[in-house]
Amino acid sequence: MIIPVEWTEEGVKMLDQRLLPTEEKWLMLKTFNDVADGIRDMVVRGAPAIGVSAAYGIAVGVKNFVGTNVEDLEEELDYICEVIGKTRPTAVNLFWAIDRMKRTFQKAKGEGKTITEIKQIMIQDAKDIHEEDIESQRLIAKFGGELLDDNSTVLTHCNAGALATGGVWGTALGVIRGAVDQGKTISVYADETRPYLQGARLTAWELLKDNIPVTLITDNMSGHVMKKGMIQAVVVGSDRIAANGDVANKIGTYMVAVLAKQHGIPFYVAAPLSTVDMNCPTGDDIPIEERDIREITHMKDIQLAPEGISVDNFAFDVTPNEIVDAIITEKGVARKPYTESLRKMFEEN
Ligand code: MRU
Repeated sequence: MIIPVEWTEEGVKMLDQRLLPTEEKWLMLKTFNDVADGIRDMVVRGAPAIGVSAAYGIAVGVKNFVGTNVEDLEEELDYICEVIGKTRPTAVNLFWAIDRMKRTFQKAKGEGKTITEIKQIMIQDAKDIHEEDIESQRLIAKFGGELLDDNSTVLTHCNAGALATGGVWGTALGVIRGAVDQGKTISVYADETRPYLQGARLTAWELLKDNIPVTLITDNMSGHVMKKGMIQAVVVGSDRIAANGDVANKIGTYMVAVLAKQHGIPFYVAAPLSTVDMNCPTGDDIPIEERDIREITHMKDIQLAPEGISVDNFAFDVTPNEIVDAIITEKGVARKPYTESLRKMFEEN
C-alpha cells in the first residue's frame, strides 16, 4: 500500500518521487516553506497529493506559529497560503485545500477558540482532508472499475496512481485497481510521459509493486497500439476539470484522447470533485503551467538538444469535453452534458 505523504509530530513526511524508481527515500519537511519547496520541486506531485500536501503544509506552518494573538496568526496564515498558493498553478486541488483550511480557521476564530485549540483544529482538518481523499479514491475505484471489461487492456498517461493522491488507490490507477478487485483480469499500457517520465518512473513502479501486468511504451507508440486493437479503454486523471467538463491533465493527454476517438476507444477521466473547478467555465480559463526547459533539453545531466535552442515546456493540456466519454468521481459516473451532470454532483454534496 503506497501512501506518499504523512502527518507526523515532527513534520510532514514525503516520499521523494524525484528519485523513483531507483531509490525509495523519505524526507521530513518541518516548515511550510519546506512543504512549498517540496510541491514546487516535485518531491510530491499529482493534483490530489498536492492538495493533501498543501493542507499539511498549512497545518505545519500554523503549528510552528509562536505568537499569542489570533489576529497575528491570521496574518501568518495568509502569508503561508500565499507562499503555498504560488507553487503550481494548474492543479486546482491546491487552491481547494487552501480555501478549506482558511474556512476552518475562520470558523474556529469565530467560535472564539484559543491559539492552541485553533492549531489542533487545523491539524485535524488537514488529516481529515487526507482521509477523505483516500475514501474518494476508493469510491472512484469502485465506480470506475465497473466500467472496465474483463480481460481488457487499458492505456494510461502520466501517473494518476496512489503516488499522485493521498494514497492506496489513485484515480486512473484506482479504476484499474478497482476492476482487479472486482475479479477482472486487466493489463495496462503505460506511456512514458515525456518530459518528466511519470509513466515510466512512477506508474510502472506502482503497478509492478501491485503485480498488475504493465507494459511500458514511448508516447509516440500509443496510436500504433490503438490501431492494432491492443487497447480497450483509456483512463487518465486530471489536474483541473472546468464546469463544462473540459479536462486539464498532463501534457499529451489531449493527443491520446484524439487517438482514442479516432479508434472508437472509450476515454475516461477519473478525479475527485476537489479537482472540478466550478468557477472555471471552460478549459480556456485553466492556467497552464510552463516548466523549466531543462526538463526537455536534458536527461539528468546529459544534454539532448543544442545549446540556445528555443523550447516550450507546457506541463498540461486541455482535452475538450466532447471527446471525454465519462468523468468518474466519488459521487458516481458523470456523462455528457457535463455542465448538468457535474453541477448535480455538487448539489448532492
Ligand atoms: O506534473 P504532475 O506530475 O503533477 O502531473 C500529474 C498529472 O497530470 C496527473 O495525471 C493528475 O494530477 C491526476 S493525479 C490523480
